[in-house]
Amino acid sequence: MGGIVGYIGTDNAVDVIISSLRKMEYRGYDSAGITILNDDLVTYKTAGKISELEKIIPAGFNGHIGIGHTRGATHGKPETRNAHPHLSSNIAVVHNGIIENYMRLKEKLIEQGYEFLSDTDTEVIAHLLHRTMKDNEACSLIDAVRHIMTKIEGSYAIAVLCTDEPDHIVLARKDSPLIIGLGDKNYFAASDVTAFLRYTKNAVYINDMELVQISPGGVEFYNNDGQRIEKQIEVIEWNEEAAEKAGYEHFMLKEIHEQPTSIQDTYAGRISELEGRVILDELKMDEDQLRNLQRVTIIACGTSWNAGCVGKYLFENLAGIHTDVETASEFRYADPVLCGQIFTLAITQSGETADTLAAVKSTKAYGCSSAAITNVVGSTITRETDSVFFTRAGPEIGVAATKSFTAQLIVLYLIAIHMGTVRGRLTPQTTRDILVGIKQLPGQVQRILNNKDVIKKCAEHYANVQDYFFIGRHLNYPVSLEGALKLKEISYIHAEGYAAGEIKHGPLALISSETPVVAIATKGHTYDKVLSNIKEIKARSAEVIVVANESDNEISKYVDRVLRIPDCHELLSPVLSAVVLQLLAYYTALARGCSIDKPRNLAKSVTVE
Ligand code: M6R
Repeated sequence: MGGIVGYIGTDNAVDVIISSLRKMEYRGYDSAGITILNDDLVTYKTAGKISELEKIIPAGFNGHIGIGHTRGATHGKPETRNAHPHLSSNIAVVHNGIIENYMRLKEKLIEQGYEFLSDTDTEVIAHLLHRTMKDNEACSLIDAVRHIMTKIEGSYAIAVLCTDEPDHIVLARKDSPLIIGLGDKNYFAASDVTAFLRYTKNAVYINDMELVQISPGGVEFYNNDGQRIEKQIEVIEWNEEAAEKAGYEHFMLKEIHEQPTSIQDTYAGRISELEGRVILDELKMDEDQLRNLQRVTIIACGTSWNAGCVGKYLFENLAGIHTDVETASEFRYADPVLCGQIFTLAITQSGETADTLAAVKSTKAYGCSSAAITNVVGSTITRETDSVFFTRAGPEIGVAATKSFTAQLIVLYLIAIHMGTVRGRLTPQTTRDILVGIKQLPGQVQRILNNKDVIKKCAEHYANVQDYFFIGRHLNYPVSLEGALKLKEISYIHAEGYAAGEIKHGPLALISSETPVVAIATKGHTYDKVLSNIKEIKARSAEVIVVANESDNEISKYVDRVLRIPDCHELLSPVLSAVVLQLLAYYTALARGCSIDKPRNLAKSVTVE
């Protein structure tokens, strides 16, 4: 994820920028860089940690105006040439976010004679600004930034320096955080308030499509019509540790709330709504290989395995490919029947899970095409498979996987749609419907978050039970497994996820008034069947909590509590139901006073067998 930093003031800009970047290290990054504006722009950047950057900055180098960056690779490998700042002649830019239409812009700029030195989307911003100011000599830097905001699509927080205006840093944002810190003759900008909290507690939060100009004399805020606007100064009361959690009590709650952004970041640049198709440049398989695929074998552990189980339904439904989901710890000692026409897909948030890595290695001898879905750039799994799809969820600190799960689902939708399109399984209309639906997910997740009090009350009501059941059918079966896993790992309540149709083959014996049952009963082709299961359970006096769509007016007649998700395409509901179940687990654990971010006996990354 990384972040941007800007500073103008009386202190040494190099020291301030480096210390601010360090404060944002927890956001994850793979390269770092800094530009100081003295008479000229002087830039140092490198792949690797901030300590590597410090090694290449000459002793005594300083200044009073500068920008800095930590980068989590999205476009282009984590190499020095892809690290920010990016330059175009007398302009330097740092950027947090993703420019979705950068390829089209890049082609035009190349035609105009611009030379690109990196594989990043960000470099187009530097060249576009240069072009704009060259075409119109009277154009100020802030006007140039406002102008290019009409050209670039996607998400961004940018900070720009230009030698023509040596007293300014210009910043702008859309869908990527940007906060300004106001000190005494010292002004800061950053992606995260933690970056400057040791210097000032006075912060101004920038909204989408707003611009900022920082000068030694003060800070001016503008809307995108170029009018000056007043902004409210907020006094941040958090200490640095609380600030890393953005004021949330736990990382898990913060990460649950980050999902509108992490979902959007994960599909950004991978969906062409115009053409109604998915763009998966990362997939190193040609169309013939995709058409000839006989099977998909998904390999994963824990929550990633649950995501894989949702993936099975997607690959079979959308792409017509038989799919198996293997538990990595079992698969590595099995006798797999594999061949060249099989696509093996590892799913691992950390990219370091020992069992998943060993299982993937064991498939190599069979000549399968292989891919990984992971959240961590540079992790071991990225060197073990032919293709790598990054979820862009940002670092997940809480042991319980939350935003990484929903981001994994987004990548699975995209791969399944791409395969389904190439294999002629999907009509353009179905593809378009699902893609439009995916783009609605961030707003729909936000709606669930806005109404979380209902989930909190429900969690508190049942916080002292000893056992919980979660049931669902079809895609909602793995969602019920994930709901149970989340609850057991952080609240220590025994919880089981079950295929709703299996309940009467044994577990019904355990159902009583003491065992609440969470039934995922979202609209879809198995809805009526789940309703019958709910009635069977109610007949055994158990209380039923249902996850249902907003438009389902009937369901409340049959159950004790209803937790709502917005109406959506049947295949997309797992993303929304998962968020409800994450909150249910979180508030249950909170009510029980558990150690939520670090549950007993568990580690974030299981690097041993
Ligand atoms: O990093 P991975 O996705 O490979 O980790 C796999 C599991 O250890 C992990 O998903 C675990 O189940 C989660 N902590 C559950 O919330």
